[in-house]
Amino acid sequence: MTLRDRFPIFQKKTYLNSCSQGALSTDVQSAYQTYLKDWDERGSPWELWVERSEAARHAFAGLVNADANEVADCTSVSAGVSAIASALDFGGPRNEVVISDFEFPTIGQIWHAQERRGARVVHVPAAGNIIPLERFEAAITERTKIVSITHVCFRNGSKLDAPAIVEIAHRKGALVLLDAYQTLGTMPVDVKRLKVDFLAGGVLKYLLASAGLAFVYVRRDLVPDLYPTTLGWFSQANIFAMDIYANTPSPTARRFESGTPPIPNIYAGVAGMKLIQLAGVDRIEAHIREITGAIKEGAMRRGFNLASPVDPEKHGALVTLRSHKVDLLVRRLEADGIITSSRDNNLRISPHLYNNQRDVDVLMDCLTKHKDLLV
Ligand SMILES: Cc1ncc(COP(=O)(O)O)c(C=O)c1O
Repeated sequence: MTLRDRFPIFQKKTYLNSCSQGALSTDVQSAYQTYLKDWDERGSPWELWVERSEAARHAFAGLVNADANEVADCTSVSAGVSAIASALDFGGPRNEVVISDFEFPTIGQIWHAQERRGARVVHVPAAGNIIPLERFEAAITERTKIVSITHVCFRNGSKLDAPAIVEIAHRKGALVLLDAYQTLGTMPVDVKRLKVDFLAGGVLKYLLASAGLAFVYVRRDLVPDLYPTTLGWFSQANIFAMDIYANTPSPTARRFESGTPPIPNIYAGVAGMKLIQLAGVDRIEAHIREITGAIKEGAMRRGFNLASPVDPEKHGALVTLRSHKVDLLVRRLEADGIITSSRDNNLRISPHLYNNQRDVDVLMDCLTKHKDLLV
């Protein structure tokens, strides 16, 4: 059995939409069945559920080269980043948050919500499909509290130069939060090498699991001085203290957690991350580079306009093509059994470990058929 055989959708469709959500594997299907079976057979298997939550935390920590004590299990990136934002103080002279124009809406919305607490949000504008480093250099100052950037842009697939932006931010005394949702599972993402202070990402996309589970990484030495105000009983030092007279945060990054963990999604998340470990992120990265290379080459040869940068160092697993009727194009592709998605006027094509050259050929034939929507 090849890895692709574990994703039944390929018997019926050409799936190229991992930037929205990964394809469903038989592994994740049976993880959900196991959740129901455990519940049915054991009644209230809380110890097992706690053990599964810890397994998810450890799996994620392993993927990003963090310690498990630096990872919080969350229900979404939004929830995790909100908890981090709530713990930052915007009262002093360092009250600015620098974000890029490539951010997912949730990131802009969370930081703008901090304006009521004294924050000022500084936007770094794009220049076409890239954001030149000089623009970060100009926007990040001694007033910057935190730089909050996406690793890869969900709209056009453009990849920011995270290490260079971290260097600028740290040189000026600012923290960095990396939203790695569009890169986790597609390439090595190592918090120690990237030197980020915070990282966020979920399992729905390239980590091949389901909605309702995400994680944040918080650098170990930052944890003791950060006191989130969005929290719940699972964020406490002793979950079973049942204390209504005090808030006693966990000494670890668990203090960024909330209430009852999303147990069914944790079962699925562990199964999804296991598939990534099995394939190996280095191998996945090389494979995706081959497939995205073939897509770009095929598109450019046919005269289609790439919305993503051509240089493979400057985009992620997501490549995008400009279309003047993108919704119609997505529907036409779907009618031919090809699953993609769109943002702005960009057709989003996002291969993963399970795609192959045959998928690229099927896509190119179909795009050629509908080239009136592309050029
Ligand atoms: C880059 C990026 N960040 C954040 C999100 C949103 O994450 P969540 O819904 O878990 O808050 C997405 C989802 O599409 C995304 O692509």
